Parts: sequence; C-alpha cells; structure tokens
Amino acid sequence: MPLTVAALAAPVQIVVGDWAARSVAREQPTKLAAFEGLYASEEGAAVHIGGWYDGDEVRYGVPLPRLLSLLAFHDPGARVEGLQGVPPDERPPVNVVRIAFQTMVGIGFLLAGIAAVYLFVWLRRKRLPRSAWFYRAIVAAGPLSVVALIAGWVTTEVGRQPWVVYGHMRTEEAVTGASGIPVGYVSLVLVYAGLLAAVVWILRRLARAPVAVQRGPSGVAPLLEGAARPEAEERQ
Ligand code: HEM
Repeated sequence: MPLTVAALAAPVQIVVGDWAARSVAREQPTKLAAFEGLYASEEGAAVHIGGWYDGDEVRYGVPLPRLLSLLAFHDPGARVEGLQGVPPDERPPVNVVRIAFQTMVGIGFLLAGIAAVYLFVWLRRKRLPRSAWFYRAIVAAGPLSVVALIAGWVTTEVGRQPWVVYGHMRTEEAVTGASGIPVGYVSLVLVYAGLLAAVVWILRRLARAPVAVQRGPSGVAPLLEGAARPEAEERQ
C-alpha cells in the first residue's frame, strides 16, 4: 500500500517541483540564478549537474545545454537573468542554495525511480519486486525523503536571502528581539524528545512480543499472499 501511494506521489512531486521552479523564475529570478549558478544573463541557458560555483561559473559540473531556459520558461531559447545583474550584497550564498537544490531534485528523481521499478514489476508480473537492492533502496528512501525535505526548505529560505520581503525588506531589518523564543524552542525539544522516547519504547515492546498474524489459505500472511503466489506457481 505505501509503495502504491509512493508510486503515485513521486511523479506528482516532480510536476509540482517544475511548477515551483517556473514561479521562482518569474517572481524571484536571482534565486533561480542561484539554483543553477548562472552568473551572466543568457539566452538558451544550460543546467549543470553537480560541480561547484566559483564566483562567475560552475566548474566540474555536467552541462545539459538549454535545459534551464526550457524548464524555466518552456522555451529552449529563453533569456534567463544571471547573478551579475544584482549587486553582490543582494545575492544569496550560491553554493549553499545550489547544493541544497541539487540534493532535493536528485533525491526526487531517485524516489521516482524506485516508484517506477515497483510499478513496472507490479504491472508486468503482478507481484512485488524480489531484488534485495529494491528493498535496500526502500529503506534508504525514508531518511532520504527527510533530507530532501530539509534541502527544499534550505533552497527556499537561503535562496531568497538577503530579502525577507523579496526586493523590499532585508532580513536584517526584520529581525526582532522575540524574547519568548528560547522557551518555545526548549518546549519543542522536550515534546519531541518525549515522543522519540515513547516511539522507541513502543517499538521495543512490539519487537519483544510480535503481534500475531492471521495466516491466509496459502500459509502466508494475507498481505504477502500476492507476492508469494507467483513463486508457488513457478515451482509447480
Ligand atoms: C524533481 C524533484 C523536485 C523539484 C524539481 C523540486 C523543486 C523545488 C523548488 C523549485 C523549490 C523552491 C520553491 C521556492 O523557493 O519558492 C522547492 C522547495 C521545496 N521542496 Fe522541492 N523539488 C523536488 C523534489 C522534492 C522532494 C522529493 C521533496 C521532499 C521529499 C521536496 C521538498 C521541498 C520543500 C519542503 C520545499 C520548501 C517549500 C517551502 O518552504 O515553501 N522537493 N522544490
């Protein structure tokens, strides 16, 4: 069930991400330039996978020509504004934004890849994949999703620096001395530490006394029956 939900959600994530990137291109062009480390404004701008922004270009990245223009404006020849157009003190820290963006998108495609493998096997063979690597990838997908989530947040928030209201108010002008913050923060940490302790306690209890599973007619738990049946057929 979670795999089916993931198989539907992962492609949607890419479509939503594409929509988000196009609205960033329209409304926060400097942030878009930081996503890609684009220094000079360019028509037919490329995307670089990986690499490092060293002040006026991306070094050691793999270029995919014209892809940035195509993704951002649905036109491979569209002009994309570079970082050069804004004063240095109005640019975000490019490598932080870029690495966070690439991490998020990379994980997004990895999750979609896992979903595609699942769908392919399910639709063709009517069973779950059997490769141990598939299940290793599933185990990795959970923590990686959290990493993508945090990377997404870093992309959004660091990407719009130094502005708190884009183009109007700088973050340093918006800082207030909210004195309640330490109390709120400590309470939050305590609540989450309590939740963590409760989860560990419950999981350890469950592990010591596993819940009894009702067996289906084929001798396996009903949820696994679909996965086990083709195996039985193959043996006959
Ligand atoms: C191909 C995949 C993806 C693309 C193209 C994409 C694109 C984007 C873009 C352009 C933004 C910035 C929006 C802005 O600054 O206004 C963003 C933010 C974000 N993304 Fe992704 N993303 C992808 C995958 C993912 C995945 C897999 C996750 C989490 C599992 C994720 C979580 C987030 C989060 C939490 C934000 C911050 C939203 C906010 O604070 O408003 N993204 N994404």
